[in-house]
Amino acid sequence: MSRIREIFCDAQELTITWENASVSRLQAIWLRDHCQMPSSRNPDNGQRLLNITDIPLDVGIKQASLDGDRLIIEFSPDGHRSEFSLDWLLQNCYCLNRQYDDRSEADKILWHGGSFGQALPRCAYSAFCDQPRSKLAALQAVRDYGFVLLDAVPCESGQILKVIEKFGYVRETNYGPMFEVRTKIDPNNLAYTNLGLGCHLDNPYRDPVPGLQLLHCLDSSTEGGESILQDGFMAAKVLRDESPDHFLMLSQHRLNFRFRDECADLQSRVPLIEVNDLDEVVKVRFNNRSIDTIKLPAELMERFYPAYRHFAEILERAGLQLVFKLQPGELMLFDNTRVLHARKAYSAAGTRHLQGAYSDLDGLYSSLRLLEASL
Ligand code: OGA
Ligand code: ZN
Repeated sequence: MSRIREIFCDAQELTITWENASVSRLQAIWLRDHCQMPSSRNPDNGQRLLNITDIPLDVGIKQASLDGDRLIIEFSPDGHRSEFSLDWLLQNCYCLNRQYDDRSEADKILWHGGSFGQALPRCAYSAFCDQPRSKLAALQAVRDYGFVLLDAVPCESGQILKVIEKFGYVRETNYGPMFEVRTKIDPNNLAYTNLGLGCHLDNPYRDPVPGLQLLHCLDSSTEGGESILQDGFMAAKVLRDESPDHFLMLSQHRLNFRFRDECADLQSRVPLIEVNDLDEVVKVRFNNRSIDTIKLPAELMERFYPAYRHFAEILERAGLQLVFKLQPGELMLFDNTRVLHARKAYSAAGTRHLQGAYSDLDGLYSSLRLLEASL
């Protein structure tokens, strides 16, 4: 039985009515550009061989017909012939499929401080290493919730870099491949004191910002020093619900971020809330320590501050924050474009030592897709 009810075409456009009544309307030039034949695509790696400028300016559809589960198209004016499988057309049709990436809020599960009860997304490190299904679930937690906790990661210096190698690549920075989070004398960053740190995302002054952060607890015998995580996409949604104008102000205007010490002077200009072309949130940035001088057109400044303050106030709401104390051997892996982190101040007595490192989301998503396809 045919999976297609009807096909209709004129020179410019092919219209397919599928058996479930959904409709694909495909432009002639798009079909020619996406030709899957060996003359247009390398059959081994699927990469496109032709350039858009190789396609005649007046390309059209001369005729289209069905042959079993394949659609045959003959193009004018050059008589080029393409075959498309119906599976390919269904999976790639731009009318039937979402056009945007999997980073947006539309594909995430938003959460607040009480969403998980006692059951935080967690995975034993041994299972992460040895059991593909456990690893997949952990990577899916990062995709869906923006974080996962790994338990019983060996408390050895540098172990964090081995963890990254299990799913992606270390993103080295001016702090080196990894950094030590403990109290230092004359620190270049307030993270290296025993002060509390408000909710923030790391390194908004980098371009591009590291998509993933890891913090591995090696020692924790101080009073205080609890960790806080918070869903920045949820906070942005709350802002949009409470004040669409404030949301627009923060998503449409950019701020300068900067980090400077003797070895580095890093600068960026980016919005606090980044949206895609459907106005869905795809990234948040917030870091009180590294916002540089705020420079906006004079007529915007008066309206900017209430929006900025509103967002900051939402980020301080206890109800949105997940609070827990990282124990030695625990490692948190989180999406640094979505999940904010913070820590409470801690006592001078005792020792608190974390190691931190960065990685990028593309490597993690790649491992996730390969695992999903293989299981
Ligand atoms: C950091 C940081 C949090 C902590 O180093 O980026 O935010 O728990 N540290 O010490
Ligand atoms: Zn931080």
